[in-house]
Formats: sequence, C-alpha cells, structure tokens
Amino acid sequence: MTIQLYHMKKLFIIANWKSNKTVKETEKWLHDFDDGVKGGKTRVGGKKVIVASSFVSLEHARYCMRNLKLSVESAAQDISPFDKGAYTGEVNGAQIKEFANYVIVGHSERRKNFGEDDDMVAKKIEMAMKHSLIPILCISNLDQVQSSRFKIQSYDNRIILAYEPLFAIGSGQADTPQNAESVAAKIKEIVNDTPVLYGGSVTSLNVNSFTKMPSIDGVLVGGASLNPLEFLEIVKNA
Ligand code: 13P
Repeated sequence: MTIQLYHMKKLFIIANWKSNKTVKETEKWLHDFDDGVKGGKTRVGGKKVIVASSFVSLEHARYCMRNLKLSVESAAQDISPFDKGAYTGEVNGAQIKEFANYVIVGHSERRKNFGEDDDMVAKKIEMAMKHSLIPILCISNLDQVQSSRFKIQSYDNRIILAYEPLFAIGSGQADTPQNAESVAAKIKEIVNDTPVLYGGSVTSLNVNSFTKMPSIDGVLVGGASLNPLEFLEIVKNA
C-alpha cells in the first residue's frame, strides 16, 4: 500500500484596501464579512486572513475583530523608515505594533507615486523587523527580489513576498497562473522558503487558479477586497 503525504500549505489571503474606507465603513465591512462568515458557516480559521486598512482605521478594526471574534488579523499599508521623532506625517513601527502584526512594504503604488526606491524599502523592512512586524514585501519583478535578497535572507522566514506585476494591478487583467507560478518558483530559489503571494486583479473567480499552484502561498487582493462578500468568496474559493 502506498501512503501519500500531502503537504498542506497555510494560505495567506490578504486584503489591501489602499486609500479607501472611513472608520465607519471599516466597521460596516467587518460586520458584513462576519455576517457572511457566520451565515455561511465558513471556516476562515484554516487560512490566514489579513486586512490592511488605512492607519486611521487600524484601532477600530482591531476592536471590531476582537468584539466579533473574527479570525482576521490587521496589517498596516506602510511604515515610517524612522523611529519616533521629528518626522511629520509618518507613522512609526511602535505605533503600528499597537494594532497590527503585519505591514505592507514597497507597494508599487508607493514606488511610483511617492518616489520610494530600494534603499527606502530596505529601511522600512528594517523598521518592521525592529518592531516585530512581519513585512509583506511587494515586488513587481525578479530584479527587485535580487536587490533586497540580503535583507530578506537575513530575516529568514519572517517575511512574506508578494509578486504583483504592474500590468495586472487594478486592470482586470490578471497574470496567467502559469507565469505567476514560474516567478514564485524563481523567487523561492533566490530566497529559499519565503512564502510568496500573487497580487493583481484577483477575484473570487480566478483565485483558485493561483492558490492551487505549488509555489504560490496566497493572494494580495486590492479592488475585489473592498466588497466584504466578494472577499469572503475569495477566502472560500482559495
Ligand atoms: P488589484 O487587486 O485591485 O489589482 O490590486 C492589487 C494590489 O495592488 C494589491 O496590493
């Protein structure tokens, strides 16, 4: 008799709300998501579900998640490259750590609209690590993995990578699962066993074509995560 061992991976399903939702809208989203979970008896627990709301919503999001006993965690969408001090407008790692365990770093929208380069991204990863926040490092090509390789490797498995090709972000044109798998596999060759997510026009209809790939450990979802019931379908179908 042959015994087959299936290595079950724990999938990360992460919502990146970007610059959307007020505190009130955050509360409504979490209640609607919770109604969907309880109504459909969905087990969210087998997957790591994370919501990256804006800074102003983080505290209330945590309050609602605890109140509703939702198995959902919070992420920040950015982090200051500096510790506390005279850096007007910045939110530092210690402040984030009060409300979240994860932080998105180096999103292409920050690289494009706010001039973030690899040095800045490296400083942000360092700050995340210093404050025991797990960075979700976004990269749109393999060069960016190479340039952050030493940073990533020195933090071992305490970092998550998200491959988000520029053409697929917000376009409705996701990458092919085959190409995403091939990039994810190459990333894993460069940085060992780091979890790799795919992001770019993920919906409830295409999510499984990505998550079933052996090297893809989950998805980072923008537009489709703004609707709680669509995001719940993504969690279910992943
Ligand atoms: P969309 O899902 O809207 O394409 O956004 C992807 C993204 O940038 C997630 O970080």
